[in-house]
Amino acid sequence: MLKNELLIEPAQRIASFKPYFFASLAKTIGELKEKGVDVIRIDMGSPDLPPEDFIIDKLAQAAKNKNAHGYTANGGTPAFRQAIAAYYKKRFDVTLDPATETLGLIGSKEGLFHLTQVLINPGDLVIVPDPGYPVYSASTKIAGGEIYTLPLRAENNFLPDFSEIPQPVAQKAKLLWINYPNNPTGATADLAFFESVVEFAQNNQILIAHDAPYVDICYDGYIAPSILQVAGAEKVCIEFNSLSKTYNMAGWRIGMAVGNKEVIKLIHTYKSQLDSSHFGPILEAGITAMEGDQTWLAKRNQVYETRRDIVVKGLLAAGFQLDIPPAAIYVWAKLPPSYSDSFSFCADLLNETGVSTTPGDVYGTMGKGYIRISLGTDTSRIEEAMERLLGWINNK
Ligand SMILES: Cc1ncc(COP(=O)(O)O)c(C=O)c1O
Repeated sequence: MLKNELLIEPAQRIASFKPYFFASLAKTIGELKEKGVDVIRIDMGSPDLPPEDFIIDKLAQAAKNKNAHGYTANGGTPAFRQAIAAYYKKRFDVTLDPATETLGLIGSKEGLFHLTQVLINPGDLVIVPDPGYPVYSASTKIAGGEIYTLPLRAENNFLPDFSEIPQPVAQKAKLLWINYPNNPTGATADLAFFESVVEFAQNNQILIAHDAPYVDICYDGYIAPSILQVAGAEKVCIEFNSLSKTYNMAGWRIGMAVGNKEVIKLIHTYKSQLDSSHFGPILEAGITAMEGDQTWLAKRNQVYETRRDIVVKGLLAAGFQLDIPPAAIYVWAKLPPSYSDSFSFCADLLNETGVSTTPGDVYGTMGKGYIRISLGTDTSRIEEAMERLLGWINNK
């Protein structure tokens, strides 16, 4: 591995992995910028707007406390876990026991990964949606599990069709991932769908992992539900949520797992072997975010909605096919008929116009022929990106 030094073979669990797509993309973008290209990034789902001032003020004020710099309780302080339970009560009318049914995470991504590690032995089966957030399948591969891919199709509003799952698969699978509002498609699910998921889990003894970081970014009056609103869901479901997108706090690394007690306990046990939890002032500011004024979220969502409309208009004019997303921060669009390969489309678009988008294949084979555009970039830059894209397509 290291030339002329130690020859160390990587462990099998990582050997087949390529670097995370966005890490490679950042390298390419860095090279373009060095050449003077004005790159507009509408690829990554990182909110460009900051949290409201009262949240940042809380962090600054808490950081001044001389006693606030030591380790904090693993999985979040009792006060943070209580704030999670209070948020779930207020937002979804779901009652959670803070000590056993909530867990603070260093961003929800680690929790998704840990869940797989605590449940899946080599050979165990996991049902993963395609397209889907790559961590569901990556964490399964690292655990040595097997993946059954569940396609999300445009004609079914990007919801899975459980009747497609063969009975032996449903009986063998230990874990099923779902994610609504959905990344990358922007699709949403209603309570009736969640009821059918819970029933599927009960009938087949499968744990449902619902990944819900976009639950508070909704448009056109839509309000996204939590799967825990379904009666009995806490027995068969765990839900992941995050302050990253809801409160524009992606870089702060603060999220949560809620639901099934036994699974929360397993993740907590696993996690406490690996990390030493959050910086206390971040937890305090997180509590302030969840307990404080929520009215700014509607204004923030209005900004995303305006951007969504700009992207939708631009893409439709350029010949893409899409459904207008009612939630999340992405527009998922099928390439115009004269193109088929999203990787080469995105690479050419980036190299020739400086506009960086994400090829759909990054989210699975069903993403072939699609691109994903993120709304987490300044509105005027999104406008410019759409102008560049339209001009480029029209000149082809
Ligand atoms: C579907 C989905 N789940 C989980 C995450 C992880 O979010 P975080 O770790 O910032 O809470 C993301 C981030 O983009 C996501 O899109």
